[in-house]
Amino acid sequence: MKAVAISPAKVILFGEHFVVGGNSAISMSIDLPTTVTVEHFTQNQVQVKSDDLEVEAVFSQDGKLARSSGENAETTLRPVFQATAFTLKKLNKPEHGLKISVTSKVPIGMGLGSSAATAVGTVIGIATLHGSKISNDDVFEAAYSLERMVHGHPSGVDQATVTYGGLISYRKGKVNDKLRVTKPPLMIIGNTGKRRSTGEFVGRVTRLRETQPNEYGKIASEAQMIADKAAEWLATDQPEKLGALMNENQRLLESVGVSSPELETLISAARAAGALGAKLTGGGGGGCMIALVEDSTQLKVSQAIERAGGQTVPGRFTPKGAQASLCDA
Ligand code: PMV
Repeated sequence: MKAVAISPAKVILFGEHFVVGGNSAISMSIDLPTTVTVEHFTQNQVQVKSDDLEVEAVFSQDGKLARSSGENAETTLRPVFQATAFTLKKLNKPEHGLKISVTSKVPIGMGLGSSAATAVGTVIGIATLHGSKISNDDVFEAAYSLERMVHGHPSGVDQATVTYGGLISYRKGKVNDKLRVTKPPLMIIGNTGKRRSTGEFVGRVTRLRETQPNEYGKIASEAQMIADKAAEWLATDQPEKLGALMNENQRLLESVGVSSPELETLISAARAAGALGAKLTGGGGGGCMIALVEDSTQLKVSQAIERAGGQTVPGRFTPKGAQASLCDA
Protein backbone atom coordinates (compact mmCIF):
# COMPACT_ATOMS: atom_id res chain seq x y z
CA MET A 1 0.00 0.00 0.00
CA LYS A 2 1.19 3.51 -0.71
CA ALA A 3 -0.19 7.02 -0.31
CA VAL A 4 0.04 9.52 -3.14
CA ALA A 5 -0.33 13.22 -2.32
CA ILE A 6 -0.70 15.88 -4.98
CA SER A 7 -0.19 19.53 -4.05
CA PRO A 8 -0.69 22.62 -6.21
CA ALA A 9 1.84 25.45 -6.54
CA LYS A 10 0.93 29.06 -5.77
CA VAL A 11 1.30 32.65 -6.89
CA ILE A 12 0.89 35.64 -4.60
CA LEU A 13 -1.20 38.27 -6.39
CA PHE A 14 -0.94 41.03 -3.77
CA GLY A 15 0.80 41.71 -0.47
CA GLU A 16 3.94 39.53 -0.38
CA HIS A 17 6.51 40.73 2.14
CA PHE A 18 4.01 43.08 3.83
CA VAL A 19 2.14 39.94 4.95
CA VAL A 20 5.16 39.04 7.11
CA GLY A 21 4.64 42.26 9.10
CA GLY A 22 0.91 41.63 9.64
CA ASN A 23 -0.79 42.87 6.44
CA SER A 24 -3.09 40.68 4.40
CA ALA A 25 -2.08 39.06 1.13
CA ILE A 26 -4.08 37.59 -1.74
CA SER A 27 -2.81 34.43 -3.35
CA MET A 28 -4.05 31.60 -5.51
CA SER A 29 -3.18 27.98 -6.15
CA ILE A 30 -2.06 26.95 -9.61
CA ASP A 31 -2.18 23.59 -11.35
CA LEU A 32 1.53 22.74 -11.37
CA PRO A 33 1.58 19.53 -9.36
CA THR A 34 4.08 18.27 -6.82
CA THR A 35 3.55 14.57 -6.14
CA VAL A 36 4.75 12.98 -2.91
CA THR A 37 4.53 9.18 -2.73
CA VAL A 38 4.88 7.58 0.70
CA GLU A 39 5.41 3.86 1.40
CA HIS A 40 6.34 1.77 4.42
CA PHE A 41 10.03 0.87 4.58
CA THR A 42 11.21 -2.37 6.12
CA GLN A 43 14.17 -0.61 7.69
CA ASN A 44 13.73 1.83 10.56
CA GLN A 45 14.95 4.72 8.43
CA VAL A 46 13.58 7.41 6.15
CA GLN A 47 14.58 7.12 2.52
CA VAL A 48 13.89 10.24 0.44
CA LYS A 49 14.42 10.62 -3.28
CA SER A 50 13.70 12.91 -6.16
CA ASP A 51 13.96 11.34 -9.60
CA ASP A 52 13.71 14.78 -11.27
CA LEU A 53 16.77 16.04 -9.41
CA GLU A 54 18.52 12.63 -9.41
CA VAL A 55 19.15 12.72 -5.66
CA GLU A 56 18.52 10.21 -2.92
CA ALA A 57 19.30 10.22 0.81
CA VAL A 58 18.63 7.88 3.72
CA PHE A 59 18.28 9.36 7.21
CA SER A 60 18.23 7.50 10.50
CA GLN A 61 15.38 8.42 12.85
CA ASP A 62 17.62 10.77 14.85
CA GLY A 63 18.32 12.77 11.67
CA LYS A 64 21.81 11.46 10.90
CA LEU A 65 22.54 10.98 7.23
CA ALA A 66 23.09 7.25 6.63
CA ARG A 67 23.91 7.52 2.91
CA SER A 68 23.21 9.71 -0.09
CA SER A 69 23.77 9.94 -3.82
CA GLY A 70 23.59 12.85 -6.28
CA GLU A 71 24.71 16.45 -6.10
CA ASN A 72 23.65 18.34 -2.92
CA ALA A 73 21.44 15.40 -1.99
CA GLU A 74 21.47 16.04 1.74
CA THR A 75 20.71 19.79 1.57
CA THR A 76 17.99 19.22 -1.00
CA LEU A 77 16.28 16.37 0.81
CA ARG A 78 16.74 17.18 4.51
CA PRO A 79 13.60 19.42 4.56
CA VAL A 80 11.56 16.38 3.46
CA PHE A 81 13.11 14.34 6.27
CA GLN A 82 12.26 17.14 8.72
CA ALA A 83 8.64 17.19 7.53
CA THR A 84 8.55 13.41 7.91
CA ALA A 85 10.01 13.33 11.42
CA PHE A 86 7.65 16.12 12.48
CA THR A 87 4.57 14.33 11.11
CA LEU A 88 5.53 10.93 12.55
CA LYS A 89 5.94 12.54 15.96
CA LYS A 90 2.51 14.20 15.68
CA LEU A 91 0.99 10.83 14.75
CA ASN A 92 2.80 9.12 17.65
CA LYS A 93 4.76 6.89 15.29
CA PRO A 94 8.27 8.27 15.77
CA GLU A 95 10.08 5.03 14.97
CA HIS A 96 8.46 4.27 11.66
CA GLY A 97 10.49 3.50 8.51
CA LEU A 98 9.26 5.25 5.36
CA LYS A 99 10.19 5.62 1.70
CA ILE A 100 9.30 8.99 0.24
CA SER A 101 9.57 10.01 -3.37
CA VAL A 102 8.97 13.56 -4.65
CA THR A 103 8.39 14.61 -8.26
CA SER A 104 7.49 18.14 -9.19
CA LYS A 105 6.72 20.42 -12.11
CA VAL A 106 7.44 23.51 -9.97
CA PRO A 107 10.71 25.33 -10.57
CA ILE A 108 12.61 25.43 -7.26
CA GLY A 109 13.44 28.71 -5.49
CA MET A 110 11.44 30.85 -7.92
CA GLY A 111 8.62 32.03 -5.64
CA LEU A 112 6.03 29.48 -6.74
CA GLY A 113 5.78 27.59 -3.46
CA SER A 114 7.81 24.47 -4.27
CA SER A 115 8.93 23.89 -0.69
CA ALA A 116 5.42 24.43 0.73
CA ALA A 117 4.01 22.01 -1.86
CA THR A 118 6.54 19.36 -0.82
CA ALA A 119 6.02 19.91 2.92
CA VAL A 120 2.22 19.84 2.69
CA GLY A 121 2.33 16.77 0.40
CA THR A 122 4.62 14.98 2.85
CA VAL A 123 2.35 15.72 5.83
CA ILE A 124 -0.85 14.54 4.15
CA GLY A 125 0.87 11.62 2.42
CA ILE A 126 2.17 10.24 5.72
CA ALA A 127 -1.12 10.85 7.56
CA THR A 128 -3.04 9.09 4.77
CA LEU A 129 -0.69 6.09 4.76
CA HIS A 130 -1.32 5.73 8.50
CA GLY A 131 -5.09 5.94 8.01
CA SER A 132 -5.31 9.24 9.90
CA LYS A 133 -8.02 11.66 8.86
CA ILE A 134 -6.29 15.02 9.02
CA SER A 135 -8.17 18.28 8.59
CA ASN A 136 -6.92 21.11 6.38
CA ASP A 137 -6.45 23.24 9.49
CA ASP A 138 -4.15 20.60 11.01
CA VAL A 139 -2.21 20.18 7.76
CA PHE A 140 -1.72 23.94 7.53
CA GLU A 141 -0.71 24.16 11.18
CA ALA A 142 1.85 21.35 10.73
CA ALA A 143 3.36 22.80 7.54
CA TYR A 144 3.45 26.29 9.00
CA SER A 145 5.11 25.15 12.27
CA LEU A 146 7.65 23.29 10.21
CA GLU A 147 8.40 26.34 8.08
CA ARG A 148 8.80 28.41 11.24
CA MET A 149 11.32 25.89 12.58
CA VAL A 150 13.31 25.94 9.37
CA HIS A 151 13.01 29.58 8.24
CA GLY A 152 12.52 31.94 11.16
CA HIS A 153 9.50 34.19 10.59
CA PRO A 154 7.52 33.20 7.53
CA SER A 155 3.93 34.42 7.18
CA GLY A 156 2.55 30.99 6.24
CA VAL A 157 0.90 32.29 3.06
CA ASP A 158 2.54 29.62 0.89
CA GLN A 159 1.48 26.77 3.18
CA ALA A 160 -2.08 28.13 3.44
CA THR A 161 -2.51 28.50 -0.32
CA VAL A 162 -1.18 25.03 -1.06
CA THR A 163 -3.25 23.42 1.71
CA TYR A 164 -6.63 25.06 1.13
CA GLY A 165 -6.31 25.86 -2.57
CA GLY A 166 -8.29 28.42 -4.57
CA LEU A 167 -8.08 32.16 -4.27
CA ILE A 168 -7.54 33.22 -0.68
CA SER A 169 -7.10 36.32 1.42
CA TYR A 170 -4.57 35.50 4.12
CA ARG A 171 -3.33 37.19 7.26
CA LYS A 172 -0.51 35.71 9.32
CA GLY A 173 -1.59 32.41 10.84
CA LYS A 174 -4.99 32.19 9.19
CA VAL A 175 -7.00 32.28 6.01
CA ASN A 176 -9.39 35.25 6.31
CA ASP A 177 -11.50 34.35 3.41
CA LYS A 178 -11.81 32.08 0.40
CA LEU A 179 -12.53 34.70 -2.23
CA ARG A 180 -15.46 33.83 -4.45
CA VAL A 181 -14.96 35.06 -7.96
CA THR A 182 -16.99 34.54 -11.09
CA LYS A 183 -13.86 34.39 -13.22
CA PRO A 184 -10.39 33.68 -11.78
CA PRO A 185 -7.78 36.15 -13.05
CA LEU A 186 -5.82 34.98 -16.09
CA MET A 187 -2.15 35.31 -15.20
CA ILE A 188 0.94 34.66 -17.29
CA ILE A 189 3.86 33.59 -15.10
CA GLY A 190 7.32 34.63 -16.27
CA ASN A 191 10.42 33.11 -14.73
CA THR A 192 13.63 35.17 -14.72
CA GLY A 193 15.59 31.94 -14.11
CA LYS A 194 17.46 33.71 -11.32
CA ARG A 195 17.33 31.60 -8.17
CA ARG A 196 17.48 33.53 -4.91
CA SER A 197 16.82 33.11 -1.22
CA THR A 198 13.46 34.36 0.01
CA GLY A 199 15.00 34.69 3.50
CA GLU A 200 17.51 37.27 2.33
CA PHE A 201 14.79 39.52 0.91
CA VAL A 202 12.45 38.99 3.85
CA GLY A 203 15.41 40.07 6.03
CA ARG A 204 15.78 43.26 4.00
CA VAL A 205 12.16 44.27 4.56
CA THR A 206 12.28 43.25 8.22
CA ARG A 207 15.27 45.55 8.75
CA LEU A 208 13.38 48.44 7.16
CA ARG A 209 10.37 47.71 9.40
CA GLU A 210 12.55 47.69 12.50
CA THR A 211 14.87 50.58 11.73
CA GLN A 212 12.45 52.93 9.94
CA PRO A 213 9.04 52.09 11.35
CA ASN A 214 7.36 55.30 10.15
CA GLU A 215 8.60 54.95 6.60
CA TYR A 216 7.68 51.24 6.58
CA GLY A 217 4.28 51.96 8.16
CA LYS A 218 3.32 54.34 5.36
CA ILE A 219 4.26 51.88 2.64
CA ALA A 220 2.58 48.97 4.45
CA SER A 221 -0.70 50.84 4.87
CA GLU A 222 -0.68 51.63 1.15
CA ALA A 223 -0.06 47.93 0.48
CA GLN A 224 -3.01 47.05 2.73
CA MET A 225 -5.31 49.43 0.87
CA ILE A 226 -4.21 47.81 -2.39
CA ALA A 227 -4.95 44.30 -1.03
CA ASP A 228 -8.39 45.41 0.20
CA LYS A 229 -9.28 47.03 -3.11
CA ALA A 230 -7.95 44.01 -4.99
CA ALA A 231 -10.32 41.68 -3.12
CA GLU A 232 -13.17 43.95 -4.23
CA TRP A 233 -12.10 44.12 -7.89
CA LEU A 234 -11.55 40.37 -7.97
CA ALA A 235 -15.04 39.70 -6.64
CA THR A 236 -16.64 42.06 -9.13
CA ASP A 237 -14.49 40.97 -12.09
CA GLN A 238 -12.87 44.29 -12.97
CA PRO A 239 -9.57 43.27 -14.58
CA GLU A 240 -8.46 46.79 -15.66
CA LYS A 241 -8.69 48.06 -12.11
CA LEU A 242 -6.99 44.94 -10.80
CA GLY A 243 -4.13 45.38 -13.27
CA ALA A 244 -3.58 48.99 -12.15
CA LEU A 245 -3.38 47.77 -8.55
CA MET A 246 -0.74 45.20 -9.52
CA ASN A 247 1.38 48.00 -10.97
CA GLU A 248 0.99 50.02 -7.78
CA ASN A 249 1.91 46.99 -5.69
CA GLN A 250 5.05 46.51 -7.81
CA ARG A 251 6.04 50.13 -7.16
CA LEU A 252 5.81 49.51 -3.40
CA LEU A 253 7.87 46.32 -3.68
CA GLU A 254 10.52 48.26 -5.60
CA SER A 255 10.55 50.91 -2.88
CA VAL A 256 11.38 48.32 -0.20
CA GLY A 257 14.18 46.85 -2.31
CA VAL A 258 12.90 43.41 -3.25
CA SER A 259 12.61 43.80 -7.02
CA SER A 260 15.48 43.21 -9.46
CA PRO A 261 16.51 44.37 -12.95
CA GLU A 262 15.67 40.92 -14.36
CA LEU A 263 12.15 41.11 -12.94
CA GLU A 264 11.66 44.66 -14.12
CA THR A 265 12.72 43.77 -17.67
CA LEU A 266 10.01 41.08 -17.85
CA ILE A 267 7.43 43.31 -16.15
CA SER A 268 8.04 46.17 -18.63
CA ALA A 269 7.91 43.79 -21.59
CA ALA A 270 4.59 42.35 -20.39
CA ARG A 271 3.04 45.78 -19.86
CA ALA A 272 4.22 47.01 -23.26
CA ALA A 273 2.65 43.95 -24.90
CA GLY A 274 -0.76 44.76 -23.46
CA ALA A 275 -0.85 43.18 -19.98
CA LEU A 276 -3.34 44.96 -17.74
CA GLY A 277 -0.79 44.93 -14.94
CA ALA A 278 2.39 43.12 -13.91
CA LYS A 279 4.45 42.62 -10.78
CA LEU A 280 6.89 40.28 -9.13
CA THR A 281 5.41 37.38 -7.19
CA GLY A 282 6.81 35.82 -4.00
CA GLY A 283 10.11 36.72 -2.42
CA GLY A 284 11.47 38.80 -5.34
CA GLY A 285 15.11 39.52 -6.12
CA GLY A 286 14.72 37.17 -9.12
CA GLY A 287 12.33 34.24 -9.37
CA CYS A 288 9.00 34.91 -11.06
CA MET A 289 6.74 37.74 -12.13
CA ILE A 290 3.07 37.62 -13.07
CA ALA A 291 1.15 39.54 -15.71
CA LEU A 292 -2.64 39.92 -15.80
CA VAL A 293 -3.94 39.34 -19.32
CA GLU A 294 -7.16 38.86 -21.24
CA ASP A 295 -7.81 35.98 -23.63
CA SER A 296 -6.99 38.27 -26.53
CA THR A 297 -3.58 39.39 -25.18
CA GLN A 298 -2.25 36.24 -23.52
CA LEU A 299 -0.22 35.02 -26.51
CA LYS A 300 1.31 38.43 -27.20
CA VAL A 301 2.27 38.92 -23.56
CA SER A 302 3.76 35.41 -23.27
CA GLN A 303 5.84 35.99 -26.39
CA ALA A 304 7.03 39.38 -25.12
CA ILE A 305 8.15 37.81 -21.81
CA GLU A 306 10.08 35.12 -23.69
CA ARG A 307 11.65 37.66 -26.07
CA ALA A 308 12.79 39.66 -23.04
CA GLY A 309 14.68 36.61 -21.77
CA GLY A 310 12.09 35.06 -19.45
CA GLN A 311 10.58 31.61 -19.49
CA THR A 312 6.82 31.33 -19.28
CA VAL A 313 5.57 28.78 -16.76
CA PRO A 314 2.39 26.97 -17.87
CA GLY A 315 0.41 27.16 -14.59
CA ARG A 316 -3.24 28.21 -14.38
CA PHE A 317 -5.65 28.76 -11.48
CA THR A 318 -6.94 25.65 -9.74
CA PRO A 319 -9.54 25.63 -6.97
CA LYS A 320 -8.00 22.46 -5.52
CA GLY A 321 -5.75 22.33 -2.49
CA ALA A 322 -3.47 19.40 -1.66
CA GLN A 323 -5.10 15.97 -1.64
CA ALA A 324 -3.93 12.44 -0.90
CA SER A 325 -5.27 8.95 -1.53
CA LEU A 326 -4.21 5.37 -0.90
CA CYS A 327 -3.42 2.98 -3.71
CA ASP A 328 -1.83 -0.42 -4.21
CA ALA A 329 1.95 -0.36 -4.23
O1 PMV B 1 8.73 31.72 -0.67
P1 PMV B 1 8.32 32.72 -1.70
O2 PMV B 1 9.41 33.28 -2.48
O3 PMV B 1 7.16 32.24 -2.47
O4 PMV B 1 7.78 34.03 -0.87
C1 PMV B 1 6.87 33.94 0.16
C2 PMV B 1 6.21 35.25 0.41
C3 PMV B 1 6.92 36.23 1.35
O5 PMV B 1 5.89 37.18 1.70
C4 PMV B 1 8.04 36.97 0.66
C5 PMV B 1 7.46 35.57 2.60
C6 PMV B 1 6.39 35.08 3.56
O6 PMV B 1 6.75 34.31 4.46
O7 PMV B 1 5.23 35.48 3.43
